[in-house]
Amino acid sequence: MARENVLQVAEKKDRYKVCYMAGDDSGFDMMEGALLVLESLDLPIDWVRADLGWCMWERSIKKFGEGDPRCNTVPPETIKTIEDTDATLMAAITSKSGVKGFKSAILQMRQKFDLYINMRPAKKLPGIGTPLAKDPDIDIVMFRENTEDLYSAVEFHPVPAEHFDWHKGMDRFRGRDVATSWRVFSADGCERIIRAGFEYAKATGRKSVVCCNKANVIRETDGMMKRIFLEVAKEYEKYGIEAREENADATAMWFIKNPQDYSVVIASNVFGDILSDEASQLTGGLGFSPSGNIGENAAIFETSSGSVPKYAHQYKVNPSAIVMTSKMMLEYLGLNEAAAKIEKALGEVLLAKEPGTITYDVLRDFVGDPDWAEHAASTIDMAAAIARHIDPTFVGEKLEAAKAKVHEMCRWDDAALVGYAD
Ligand code: IPM
Ligand code: MG
Repeated sequence: MARENVLQVAEKKDRYKVCYMAGDDSGFDMMEGALLVLESLDLPIDWVRADLGWCMWERSIKKFGEGDPRCNTVPPETIKTIEDTDATLMAAITSKSGVKGFKSAILQMRQKFDLYINMRPAKKLPGIGTPLAKDPDIDIVMFRENTEDLYSAVEFHPVPAEHFDWHKGMDRFRGRDVATSWRVFSADGCERIIRAGFEYAKATGRKSVVCCNKANVIRETDGMMKRIFLEVAKEYEKYGIEAREENADATAMWFIKNPQDYSVVIASNVFGDILSDEASQLTGGLGFSPSGNIGENAAIFETSSGSVPKYAHQYKVNPSAIVMTSKMMLEYLGLNEAAAKIEKALGEVLLAKEPGTITYDVLRDFVGDPDWAEHAASTIDMAAAIARHIDPTFVGEKLEAAKAKVHEMCRWDDAALVGYAD
């Protein structure tokens, strides 16, 4: 039986076990900042550490030897911890291209735990605004399908000879060097992401749901998505939810022209990948963007930002994305009051932009400070400022004790990493 509301944890509890995964490089700095903010809230959460990403890939090679099929970015310990906890908070991982056998940790998690929803809000934040002339109010929540489409990983190169006989469209490719990647959609896969979007609209009082597709050209896959969307939409008419389907290229254009006209947006995997980055850029960029990979049995809340390897362990990166990601996770756990406090505090810090509270990127990109490098606050300073807006007593010894605690929780030396234990 499908759960009624997958956007909420399966079982409400007095205390939760939550997995935290820093990932790689600046992911550790971000996680330390997020945990500091969360410390100021006195949450009913017991944290359990797990690791994944490039750091685990290197470790697995050390353990099993290069080329061993057990080498991976995700150790079995991490899978177990995700299974054993109520939710997971993840910072950022590093990918390197051209490494034989290397598979993205997050793509594996999405498949392994069938995390079919990629929920990506793009909301205008106080003090950050939008790059658009009229500075419109943007509050888009994208529901990107997260397991199918070109991410199904059914690919061929060379293409087997029989494939050329399957469709007359392949005739013109005969005898040429050809590669194919299958775009696989399932009807139930379309239906569940569409329903997730409508259910969210219904639960939050949002009045518009847009499905973007290319059914005008890509008849079978996008045609299926469009047909199911229009069917499901009828069920939600009675809630006053207006449903609209449109071409994804038009969506990309209208996001720039009239972003305030969008609320809930449903997209297949690849279109959602692209359009969510666009929506994010309209609201400050990936450094501010949270996301949630959610399924029936697990939920991994992940920043949209990368791991910024060049700044690794220097505490330079903006903690906003992971702080907003934590907020999403708290909502998932039903800790709505705490979630609201986090968003409010972040907004206040971004708006005030007081010296010593704002990271370099905000000073450079949103304040236009020519001396942004000198004036920049560290990840931890900004996190401490957010925490202080949540709890004004979070200063002095209390702050120092919390800093020491989260620093220890986010150690990144070999002895601290969890996974591929002997
Ligand atoms: C995202 C990222 C990932 C994706 C990459 C890192 C595999 O771009 O989460 O949007 O393509 O889904
Ligand atoms: Mg992406």
